[in-house]
Amino acid sequence: MAIRDGRLKKGMTDEAAEYNSSLEFDKIIFEADIKTNFAHTSMLKHEKIIDENTADKILEALDKLKEEGIDVLVFDPSVEDIHMAIENYVTEVVGPEAGFMHTAKSRNDQVATDIRLVLREKIIDIQIGILNFIEGIVEFAKKHLETVFIGYTHLQHAQPITVAHHLMAYVQSLKRDYERFEDTYKRVNLNPLGSAAMTTTSFPINRDLTTKLLGFDGYLENSMDGVSARDFIVETVFDLSCLCTTLSKICEELILWSTNEFGIVEIADEYSSTSSIMPQKKNPDIAELARAKSTVITGELVTILSILKAIPYTYNKDLQEITPHLWNAVEVGESTLSIVTKMLLSVEFNKERCLELAGKNFATATDLADIMVREKGIPFRTAHQIVGRIVNDAIANDLSEENITSNYIDNIAIELGFDELNLDDVLVQKALNPLDNIKMRTVPGGPSPDMVKVAMSNINDFLNKEYEKKGI
Ligand code: ARG
Repeated sequence: MAIRDGRLKKGMTDEAAEYNSSLEFDKIIFEADIKTNFAHTSMLKHEKIIDENTADKILEALDKLKEEGIDVLVFDPSVEDIHMAIENYVTEVVGPEAGFMHTAKSRNDQVATDIRLVLREKIIDIQIGILNFIEGIVEFAKKHLETVFIGYTHLQHAQPITVAHHLMAYVQSLKRDYERFEDTYKRVNLNPLGSAAMTTTSFPINRDLTTKLLGFDGYLENSMDGVSARDFIVETVFDLSCLCTTLSKICEELILWSTNEFGIVEIADEYSSTSSIMPQKKNPDIAELARAKSTVITGELVTILSILKAIPYTYNKDLQEITPHLWNAVEVGESTLSIVTKMLLSVEFNKERCLELAGKNFATATDLADIMVREKGIPFRTAHQIVGRIVNDAIANDLSEENITSNYIDNIAIELGFDELNLDDVLVQKALNPLDNIKMRTVPGGPSPDMVKVAMSNINDFLNKEYEKKGI
């Protein structure tokens, strides 16, 4: 316990050491910490701050540790954290000269650097996962360009759509989730190393060099900020929370749609379970768990924000407590993205049921009002009133869309005190037919197959550009 020997007379109690230690959740930054030490020592050597021979011995020991792996480290809580465990290892290999590695460096700037190194890789992995999911959904949606379906508002039948249009709504949401990570990455990929404990150092260190060696885009310009800033973690966990909210909404729909009442989709057996007592059951467990796990990430976000909000500048040990919540959020986000991708892409839509729902409950009524406006020049509000009354009357008399004729419409219009409209019956039926209705929506962003194809082509351009940026 070399760092304690000078100032403190007694070691911590076992209980206090256990409570104080971050070793367990530091495992994830093991390789990053070797990298940070390597870059720092190389810089000290380059700037002739430490002796060349000593530096080489330290660098060799770090290389050896990288090869041997984490298992050679002593994982005793009295070691406090991974930084001390690595320092102890290097000291064992090199001898007391290893202590030069710690010149002009503190665990405060070191841990912040390590977390950023690992997190930037995790962000890229998650982004690639999102791109793969988007690509899979677009391919899936191509099979459903004309699969007529019902769109909901207030979970009540609203207007006809296609399954493809609905799936492409997921894609837009996922694209924004991806872009949020892209933006956050810029603030994660900055170098705090050189901030030392909180005020840099009087040694002439070269921060540009460590920034370059570690592949950061730049360094943090204020040493106090450098050691205490954790908003890059808040942002990343927020991004994860947003992503998993998108995934949770998708899961919520799959759960609803797979019920007997909706009967819209069949979730693959591989992502379903049964009951231990009710042999007929097919339960959407994976979707339910994904829905719950998104809450876990939101919880981690609130935990992290709450830890941060009352911390005075600069480093406080509270910051250590943030990291397990970060890594948990990352782990839950990664696994949820992976499983929801596979589950959604193996879902089967029941086309007949989708069509049946789209043709029910006067979901095409808006278009009946629209043709009154277009063909007869009456104000939309008047048309809205007439069609509302038509639907009311039709429901009361157990009539469906096929029974709505020009004559029927005129009787209602007259009853409401308007002139007769004399609409063309062919036009009326076209407006009321779900597929024709969808095909008329040729405005960008709309559900007509042509417009959905445009959206798909735009997304393919986006995917190609982003895959290229990520070197894929
Ligand atoms: N394990 C610590 C953390 O995760 C490293 C920094 C320790 N610094 C200190 N002054 N005790 O934050």
